[in-house]
Amino acid sequence: MKEMRTQVGIVGAGPAGLMLGHLLHLAGIDSIIIENRAQEYVIERVRAGVLEQGTVDLLIKSGVGARLEREGLLHDGIYFNVFGNRRRIDMASLTGRRITVYGQNEVVKDLIAARNTTGRPLRFEVSEVSVHDLESEQPKIRFAENDDRYEIRCDFIAGCDGFHGICRDSIPSKHLHIYERNYPFGWLGILANATPSSPELVYSLHERGFALFSMRSSNVTRLYLQCEPNEDISLWSDDRIWSELLTRLQSDDGWKPNVGPIMQKGVTGMRSFVSEPMRFGRMFLAGDAAHIVPPTGAKGLNLAMADIWRLSRAFAGYYESGCQDLLDHYSENCLRRVWRAQQFSWWMTSLLHRPATGNPFDSRRQRAELEYVTSSRAAMTSMSENYVGLPIEECASGG
Ligand code: APR
Ligand code: PHB
Repeated sequence: MKEMRTQVGIVGAGPAGLMLGHLLHLAGIDSIIIENRAQEYVIERVRAGVLEQGTVDLLIKSGVGARLEREGLLHDGIYFNVFGNRRRIDMASLTGRRITVYGQNEVVKDLIAARNTTGRPLRFEVSEVSVHDLESEQPKIRFAENDDRYEIRCDFIAGCDGFHGICRDSIPSKHLHIYERNYPFGWLGILANATPSSPELVYSLHERGFALFSMRSSNVTRLYLQCEPNEDISLWSDDRIWSELLTRLQSDDGWKPNVGPIMQKGVTGMRSFVSEPMRFGRMFLAGDAAHIVPPTGAKGLNLAMADIWRLSRAFAGYYESGCQDLLDHYSENCLRRVWRAQQFSWWMTSLLHRPATGNPFDSRRQRAELEYVTSSRAAMTSMSENYVGLPIEECASGG
């Protein structure tokens, strides 16, 4: 077994692990990041793309926002298409804040480039990852690479290994509370070579179900439609996908998405999940390793970034002055924001999806709620405040 030593051992090179490594580097703290997938896989994995202003500010302030500032698409509002009636919600005028559309994989690309310039370790395609001695002063990460086995001796471990990672599962179950909700639908998502026909996102509810119009650049459209949670993608020809998207998205004012060649398609399930607390001994969980939201509120990546900001500050406090306060309050400080986002994401999901076997009362009630959310200034302000996201610092009261 080859031995290595670091201050913070980071499991997972998704946005959470990479951003933590970056912020720790800026604070002069050493880390080793290990990832079980290949670099190309991590970079090419298509994920969500809406960044809250707080996330954008954090990326820019920490020096990894140059391309984001050049290529990110600033949006002042979103549309809700309520059974054909398309209405705009001007989030910028209601809240003073905006969102930026920039693919998560672009964020990952920028963070990998930043890591590579520091010369600090980032190792892809490792296997047999495990964590040990979490309650001791020196927790350890073990992994294999090629034919060699390694042990990293750490002051702390950051579990940034996503929902299917090993860190959360290494915590004895009696120390965890799991809160979970599954939804009876999934999203079929496509990336199409088509010029976005609207400068802003369109969230649509149609009798046949939910659909979402989004984008990645001036020639790439990203679209989703509500489907079964375990929908068989092979049953969806490109023609069938376009026909369903056009039916659900086009509005009475004549708007519809532009059609073009489909470059990528896939189905994702929808789930709400929180594991508490986000710490066990000297291991801290962040991002999808600790919580999952359904994608309707576009909160997943933003929550991961807020966790990481807090965790980096807590480590910085510890190494600067030996103060453990922020580490001790990390979980509770993160969970306040996590639960706010859970509630909002659950609400957006319920507001915009049609259950397969709907009760007629519920469907009229849903329509009344959509009418209210898209016409009352108070309701639109409340929705927008959640959608654009609270400043990261504001959620950190008490730490
Ligand atoms: N060892 C090392 N790495 C692992 C292991 C393991 N045993 N298991 C998983 N990983 C890696 C995954 O391959 C992935 O690259 O951990 C990384 C976790 O990254 P994400 O799943 O992207 O999670 P996170 O960084 O928390 O980012 C949250 O991702 O799922 C979206 O909506 C979510 O946008 C949000 C963001
Ligand atoms: C996306 O662009 O991928 C996207 C946008 C908004 C969402 C979810 C995903 O709510």
